[in-house]
Amino acid sequence: MSNAVQTISVDLGDRSYPIHIGDGLLGQRLRQLVGEFRSKQVAIFTNPTVSSLYLESTLAGLSDFNVDVFTMPDGEAHKNLDTYNDAMDFLMDHRHNRTTCLVALGGGVVGDLTGFVAATFQRGVDFVQIPTTLLAQVDSSVGGKTAVNHASGKNMIGAFYQPQSVVIDISVLRTLPDREYAAGLAEIVKYGVIYDAEFFAWLEANSEAISARETQALIHVIRRSCEIKAEVVAQDEREAGLRAILNFGHTFGHAIENLSGYGTWLHGEAVSVGMVMAAQFSERLNRLPQGGASRIAELLECMDLPVTLTGDVERQAMLTAMGMDKKTVDGRVRFVVANAIGQVDLVADYSQAALDETLAAFCSR
Ligand code: NAD
Ligand code: GLY
Repeated sequence: MSNAVQTISVDLGDRSYPIHIGDGLLGQRLRQLVGEFRSKQVAIFTNPTVSSLYLESTLAGLSDFNVDVFTMPDGEAHKNLDTYNDAMDFLMDHRHNRTTCLVALGGGVVGDLTGFVAATFQRGVDFVQIPTTLLAQVDSSVGGKTAVNHASGKNMIGAFYQPQSVVIDISVLRTLPDREYAAGLAEIVKYGVIYDAEFFAWLEANSEAISARETQALIHVIRRSCEIKAEVVAQDEREAGLRAILNFGHTFGHAIENLSGYGTWLHGEAVSVGMVMAAQFSERLNRLPQGGASRIAELLECMDLPVTLTGDVERQAMLTAMGMDKKTVDGRVRFVVANAIGQVDLVADYSQAALDETLAAFCSR
């Protein structure tokens, strides 16, 4: 175990916060890293899977506090208003007040729900993110998007609400199932494509170390991913423009998730195929030079991620599902397209034929 802690900042004026990254940060070291709380009252939000592995070490780091633990059921299906209501009941029953601090201990599901409860409980209380999946460490715990799902769509009810701090302990990734780990790698590849060609090349050169979850490789990729996300969020917290680039591949990916029934594809798996679709679309638009899409696909395949669609997926159904995308303006779906590896744009003006050809290349009919 390496003891060094690396800290980067999400610069948002008086709502700026640190992201601490290291190996073995739970337990006693956690106390210094979470920052100052407004009172002794803390509620940890977690689920049974994560709690059985990491609640004890988290509690050890918060032994100065009066801690209650809200355990929500595991899974995306529970990121909804029923669990939100249960969480509110829990906080009321345990007499939490405006000085309380919520601690999200888990993956993106726990983090998104906790953040939304924190944004709305008594008009907003502090919260800390302790992300335990790779996806949550490089994406969902940073940037303040909080939400629950509605029957008609994912993340339809939510708020932009930033945490007080993010503590990323890479040692927890050792228990993460392979599929979940690979799903997080998809978002890491995304950062290379949208922002940093050198980082993309580093991922290509070090894909074995990354797949083997080597400590130094992990710290590097998590740090660089968080830096990129922090830079983008600092410039465009509420997604007026630039922040949409974080959605590269997601317009296709969300439609894949939606059509196949949530849970069939992990989010990162659907985003992996979605990025290859977005890259091929970019080539058809004569933006990304030929060969760029296959380079992206090869890296994703090296990381055990899918790059083609399986099963019966209709083109028309994909178009309809993509119409639900939050980037749609006045009925026009906007796409993040690549001009090069490391440089992307959000476009509303594109050739429908290029989109149709891209869908035809992936869909079964
Ligand atoms: P998840 O939270 O469902 O976690 C995946 C599985 O891994 C769960 O079963 C969980 O219990 C388990 N797990 C968590 N940590 C573990 C560990 N260390 N060891 C073993 N098992 C562990 O899924 P996720 O991929 O972390 O998050 C997906 C969610 O994140 C989605 O709801 C998505 O909408 C959201 N998301 C939000 C943002 C954002 O900006 N807020 C960005 C991307 C994704
Ligand atoms: N995951 C996309 C965003 O945070 O904007």
